[in-house]
Amino acid sequence: MAVLVTGGTGYIGSHTVIELFNSGYDAVIVDNLCNSSKKVLERIEKITGKTPLFYEADIRDKNAVGKIFKENNIECCIHFAGLKAVGESVEKPMEYYDNNISGTLALIDVMGKYGCKNLIFSSSATVYGTPKEIPITEECPKGECTNPYGWTKSMIEQILTDVGNADKEWNIVLLRYFNPIGAHESGLIGEDPNGVPNNLMPYITQVAIGKRERLGVFGNDYDTHDGTGVRDYIHVADLAKGHIKAMDAINKKCGMEVYNLGTGKGYSVLDVVKNFEKASGVNIAYKIMPRRAGDVAVCYSDPQKAKKELGWEAQYGIYEMCRDAWNWQKNNPDGY
Ligand code: NAD
Ligand code: UFG
Repeated sequence: MAVLVTGGTGYIGSHTVIELFNSGYDAVIVDNLCNSSKKVLERIEKITGKTPLFYEADIRDKNAVGKIFKENNIECCIHFAGLKAVGESVEKPMEYYDNNISGTLALIDVMGKYGCKNLIFSSSATVYGTPKEIPITEECPKGECTNPYGWTKSMIEQILTDVGNADKEWNIVLLRYFNPIGAHESGLIGEDPNGVPNNLMPYITQVAIGKRERLGVFGNDYDTHDGTGVRDYIHVADLAKGHIKAMDAINKKCGMEVYNLGTGKGYSVLDVVKNFEKASGVNIAYKIMPRRAGDVAVCYSDPQKAKKELGWEAQYGIYEMCRDAWNWQKNNPDGY
């Protein structure tokens, strides 16, 4: 029995494959490599001593995905594959709707045909829009998303909920990630964005390594302790472990479930900069810039449901997240 990991050579997927191996699962990866490198496979082998079976394919290609099910005994699918750049999604909405939504529709169609009805989906705190409550519980109503990427996550959640309601054989866990950062402690795998990073931590690490002159801080007039945006940063290794706990729930036939995966703590942009400087010993030049369109002031989770029901809780703090992000960047200045 194996777990099919779509998008498994990507940032979160690769860390999750390691945790699957550590927990005794077999992992099969399908990825079209549109935002990742095959080198990840060697790195996973170095860390775990095991190489995941890899299929280079697009999940929208039902024949290719069907072949994977034919050739392997897949018990569950962890579905990471998708496009995730918020700004790009505004410019290319059709690409995002097609890749993320058509990809998911194709995947669940093939899964159903092969009788595999266990799915863990990578959702996002972005589905809460401007959150109606802080900290955000799973009861918080979903909101208006500010970009097509966010809408794809919100729509896929709805599609999967309807599929689960129509056929009770499905076990589907929607995991709403807050802000994943950091890297595996080995420094062998980590986040490797194409071009100019959109997200805070890879931007900071690229300033630290000398690739970018300085960080632009998007707004210092929010209603927060220092005026900069507050987020719930979570170590990617903790996030990966959350998927193993979700697998346990699936194995117990949980039906439809939704969980926040966050630490429950909020840090501002400047808090992150300070922690990074402490962890790395490198000074980060920054400049205050105008607010970025679509950003909310504060977003952090109430992670109690995952703690109570899954027995999952984040272990790493912001210092370790910064330390490990820096360890990855300095060992791999040009990524993979
Ligand atoms: P990533 O880009 O590193 O990984 C996604 C992987 O999916 C890549 O390897 C890419 O090549 C692959 N892929 C994309 N479209 C595909 C397709 N049609 N067929 C096959 N493979 C395809 O991103 P990540 O940060 O690891 O994110 C994983 C998932 O988690 C995504 O669905 C993302 O939307 C979601 N998520 C990420 C964050 C974050 O901040 N990183 C936050 C919330 C949710
Ligand atoms: N920020 C800067 N400068 C930068 C980049 C970011 O000041 O160069 C600030 C942002 O304004 C925000 C904070 O840093 O206050 C975090 O921004 P990120 O872009 O790192 O993360 P977001 O919270 O905007 O979004 C991320 C993912 C989304 C996901 C969301 C889930 O990019 O895909 O987390 O909460 F949906």
